[in-house]
Amino acid sequence: MLNFALRVKLYLINKIFNCINLIIEKMKKLCYVMALVGMLILCNEANAQTKWHWEKGTIVVDAPARPAGQQHALGLSTAPLPVVRVAFVGLGMRGPGAVERWTHINGVRIVALCDYERERAERCNGYLKKANMPEAEVYFGDYGYEVLCQRKDIDLVYIATDWVHHVPVAKCALENGKHVAIEVPSAMDLKDCWELIDLSEQKRLHCMLLENCCYDDFELNSLNMAQQGVFGDVLRVQGAYIHNLSDFWGSYWKNWRLEYNRTHRGDVYATHGLGPVAQVLDIHRGDRMKTLVAMDTKAATGPELVKQLTGKDCTEEEFRNGDHTTTLIRTEKGKVIEIQHDVMNPQPYNRLYQLTGTKGFANKYPIQGYALDAGQMKSSGVAPQVDNLSSHSFMKKADMDALVEKYQSPILKKYGAEAKVVGGHGGMDFVMDARLVYCLQNGLPLDIDVYDLAEWCCLAELGALSMDNNCAPVAVPDFTRGHAYDQKGYRHAYASEEQEAETAAIAKAYTMTLKTKGVKAAEAELQKQLKLQAKKHKK
Ligand SMILES: NC(=O)c1ccc[n+]([C@@H]2O[C@H](COP(=O)([O-])OP(=O)(O)OC[C@H]3O[C@@H](n4cnc5c(N)ncnc54)[C@H](O)[C@@H]3O)[C@@H](O)[C@H]2O)c1
Repeated sequence: MLNFALRVKLYLINKIFNCINLIIEKMKKLCYVMALVGMLILCNEANAQTKWHWEKGTIVVDAPARPAGQQHALGLSTAPLPVVRVAFVGLGMRGPGAVERWTHINGVRIVALCDYERERAERCNGYLKKANMPEAEVYFGDYGYEVLCQRKDIDLVYIATDWVHHVPVAKCALENGKHVAIEVPSAMDLKDCWELIDLSEQKRLHCMLLENCCYDDFELNSLNMAQQGVFGDVLRVQGAYIHNLSDFWGSYWKNWRLEYNRTHRGDVYATHGLGPVAQVLDIHRGDRMKTLVAMDTKAATGPELVKQLTGKDCTEEEFRNGDHTTTLIRTEKGKVIEIQHDVMNPQPYNRLYQLTGTKGFANKYPIQGYALDAGQMKSSGVAPQVDNLSSHSFMKKADMDALVEKYQSPILKKYGAEAKVVGGHGGMDFVMDARLVYCLQNGLPLDIDVYDLAEWCCLAELGALSMDNNCAPVAVPDFTRGHAYDQKGYRHAYASEEQEAETAAIAKAYTMTLKTKGVKAAEAELQKQLKLQAKKHKK
């Protein structure tokens, strides 16, 4: 009898536990659904935040006026930083390479390393150790970067997190008085763009988009040619990010990249294609992107990837980003830019990079070449190998080599050889980092400013607006708010030879002492060098 009562009791307890477990599971599911609904509402709200209206068949988005008393940041230069004290935030697949590259640059101190995952940040101290540099302080967790940004001894925060964290980290750094350099695409929507512009303008701090493709050999040399008129008036340009990411999808932290593509339409990764060609067209330095139209294919591979990676079904309608997105942009001066994005389908890597000018033509993918006729070649200062050189086909290698030699970018002359040794996408990552440090050390405007950042990133939200409205034209806002014609042409900034040599000597002495005697001795050496410099300039 007792046994029976005990069994009944146990049965009831078991039932109650099962019920509790069931309730917990149901609650968990409910929380998950509520979180998802919340995210969707936030997503819609974020889109709803950009107010827009029709103007003669064109979508026009509202642009916030520049707050009273705030100045534009075009050509912004800040006090020279003989030593750049840097912190890295986001050390997944991309970030560690940057840490390693910076150990090769003189006049740099890596102060802090931060990742959500503690172990990822700690691991990067290995690069510093290898370079005989003192270890950096490690920060981790969701908000480690907030503590990092409070430090007084950091000049620059270099951000390589997932896309959703770019702007929160950048805003925190700018608000705490630090320059920022943000991986591509730095801003994900128009709200992000305006917030970064306002902070850079208010704080008088740099906010650079780390567009490494602006620093590849072909792009830098062709930019130099375009600036010197080799192609005549460049009328039409193309750029792209066509890269089948099938080897990478499974490796992104918490699957952020696929999830972002699932929930967002438009060219969400436009800057590799747009950055280098926008520089050729002097965008916001004499011309302006005026209207865009976007069109995408249906999402075919995207939904399949969701199934593969998460096991969940995903329909074509549930995946916002079309497999292949094309954006066409017309500038105020009548030029056309075509940008493509496809990270889904099997095809050779391609950034297009094509310039069509009134006197010549440049093309990088899949065939690297130039087409000029004999007359244009001669007036560009290069004797053609054959007098009947025509622009109907790419010129022969010997002619191309001669053209490239004459127009080699000064940036490649300075950093090209070292970049091939240090590496990073064939060296372009190192050239980008070295130029950033050079400009900061010499107090020069950076090559890529916060307006470039906004112009190159705005294709995502503006393209979505276009496509969600039957591919309607959308007016591109003037992010400079009335100053797109102040600067006459895009140019890289350089210090005088004398200043450059002085800065480089101080940077070298600092790094040598840092590597042999540590931080205290390096800081003492820096003070000694700065005193000597001041004395020299007084004479
Ligand atoms: N320019 C290029 O050629 C190039 C190439 C690859 C990636 N990228 C860009 O680099 C960025 C990173 O890409 P990835 O491939 O390294 O992605 P990833 O997923 O490998 O790394 C992202 C990292 O961000 C960290 N993170 C997330 N939240 C954080 C927080 N609150 N604080 C600190 N760290 C946080 C994650 O822990 C992870 O380690 C992306 O913006 C991507 O577009 C650029």
